[in-house]
Amino acid sequence: MKLLILNGPNLNLLGLREPAIYGTQDYAALVRFVEDVCRQENIECEIYQSNHEGALVDKIQSAYGVFDGIVINPAAYTHTSVAILDALKAVALPAVEVHLSDVSQREAFRQISYAGMACVKTYMGLGFEGYRQAVQYLKHLLQK
Ligand code: DQA
Repeated sequence: MKLLILNGPNLNLLGLREPAIYGTQDYAALVRFVEDVCRQENIECEIYQSNHEGALVDKIQSAYGVFDGIVINPAAYTHTSVAILDALKAVALPAVEVHLSDVSQREAFRQISYAGMACVKTYMGLGFEGYRQAVQYLKHLLQK
């Protein structure tokens, strides 16, 4: 089983970026966390981060026929990107949305998730742990 883990803009600045909201651990720590989870779950993974919407769209498109599922934290593009929504719908791979923070308790402009409309499940407000839940959810779904 092979999963693509996608992270959107500014997640590369974890640790530095609004630590009261996103925590003090950096992006390298998130990558290690997800790699450890996938190793424990016996899942192959590729982890990709970009600050560019088109690069994320390209990566989703290239997942078709290569990966079995997608875990995506589209970051700010969650709330703006119809292109990412359309790409997820186009490849039609099972996708799970993750947010480190609990976006449901934040600003009004964060209350819409376009990407989430193409996802089978969303985890938010769990920090890094949300990625573990997402990987495990997809594993169980794909094993059915
Ligand atoms: C985020 C929440 C988004 O609203 C925000 O733009 C981010 C990170 C999260 O992980 O909590 O960049 O996706």
